[in-house]
Amino acid sequence: MDINPSQSISYFKTQYTHYIKEFRNFLKIPSVSTDPDHVKDIQEAANFLIKKLNSLGCEHVKAYKTQRHPIVYGDWLKAGSEAPTLLVYGHYDVQPPDPLEEWETRPFEPAIRGDYLFARGASDMKGQVMAALFAIESVLHTSELHLNVKFILEGEEEIGSPSLDEFMEKHKDLLAADFVLNPDAGMIAPDVPSIVYSLRGLAYFELRVDGPKHDLHSGLFGGIVENPAHVISKIIADLHDADRHVTLPGFYDRVRPLSEEDRKKIASLKISDAFYIKATGVPKLWGEKGFTTLERAGARPTLDVNGLYSGFIREGGKTIIPAYAKAKISCRLVPDQDPDEVHKQLRLYLETHMPDTVTWNVTMLSGAPAYLCESAPGLDRFVDALEAAWGKPVAYKREGGSIPVATSMKEILGVDSILTGFGLPDDHIHSPNERLHLPTWKRGIKALILFILSFNNHN
Ligand code: BES
Ligand code: MN
Repeated sequence: MDINPSQSISYFKTQYTHYIKEFRNFLKIPSVSTDPDHVKDIQEAANFLIKKLNSLGCEHVKAYKTQRHPIVYGDWLKAGSEAPTLLVYGHYDVQPPDPLEEWETRPFEPAIRGDYLFARGASDMKGQVMAALFAIESVLHTSELHLNVKFILEGEEEIGSPSLDEFMEKHKDLLAADFVLNPDAGMIAPDVPSIVYSLRGLAYFELRVDGPKHDLHSGLFGGIVENPAHVISKIIADLHDADRHVTLPGFYDRVRPLSEEDRKKIASLKISDAFYIKATGVPKLWGEKGFTTLERAGARPTLDVNGLYSGFIREGGKTIIPAYAKAKISCRLVPDQDPDEVHKQLRLYLETHMPDTVTWNVTMLSGAPAYLCESAPGLDRFVDALEAAWGKPVAYKREGGSIPVATSMKEILGVDSILTGFGLPDDHIHSPNERLHLPTWKRGIKALILFILSFNNHN
């Protein structure tokens, strides 16, 4: 049959004000997955999606219980068993909004300023989930659809998707699909439609160093006990050498070297250092010697402290030797590193370097390997849709962030993912004042409509 996307696109335009209202209601729900105080809100966000899937005419709509937060599933299979099936992945949980005082408007009171919609989750990724739902809704209201669609929407992505693998193993048939669309990655710039072809993995740890049995007066005891804050600082400082390599023995052993071709492909993106300086606000960039900024940002492994805590951190002074120090430390991994092996390497490093003046404990909070896939089923169609919506050629990016589900889906369901999304690098995801660039988001929805309708064209 002929495809006529203009009706679906016009429908989206007529619904725009209403859609923004609906989207804002979703953003108002503080579905912070890591915080036990928000369990009710997580449930509310899941219910919001269940209602939405039902209103689209989906069937088998259900929230599947897990040990923590529910997985929402629903499908629209009315194209029949001859038609191909698209599985859309999304997550409805968000990162904590802290530090709250840094927000210009409150994180769960969505506000539009200029071209941007500000709220926690606006970009990562409630906006992307809504984009997929609105695109499909616009098509279902205006056209036939020769594509079956399944949705899997989880509430644990920002805590490392601990329940998802087991769920997928158990429900392979339910989730079976020809294509996977994962819009949890982003675009490079508003005028550069892009596809992500690689994601880094993650190994996340918590380290605790204990010194005295309680905080001590630093005058009475200073000079005779070692300070856990000093110990943890030195341990952390020694994790990089003068060339900014990670010093964990064995850390680079499995790292797949970048070929000349890889390096050329990465360099072809032409994102300048000035871009990163502007996006981050730092006076100068930093990183591993021997690699370009873009290589370091997506194709080389790293180690970072994500949080550091010890002693008295409020206003004013308090003269103590803290009883303990804590650090959250994470490594971004590349093919073929193994998160469990990095855990062993860190443990061995701590065993060798920790002084005997303190006791310590390290735990692994989450781990996932990297993902690299130069082509996924349906990717050509998706590229065509992006190029038509933007009128520009697509750029391909190795992304530094992690989406563990892409690897799990490949392993469990046997399908590679189309990794995309309509967020931008300066959306402040995981940071205060998270925002979504609405013009890019709207164009993205147009691209999604074109993509979905391309299946009506059987040639
Ligand atoms: N959507 C992000 C990851 C992302 C952002 C990929 C931009 C590509 C471009 C995702 O929600 C995220 O933040 N993931 C976590 C994973 C972790 C908690 C296991 C991450 O990367 O820190
Ligand atoms: Mn995300």
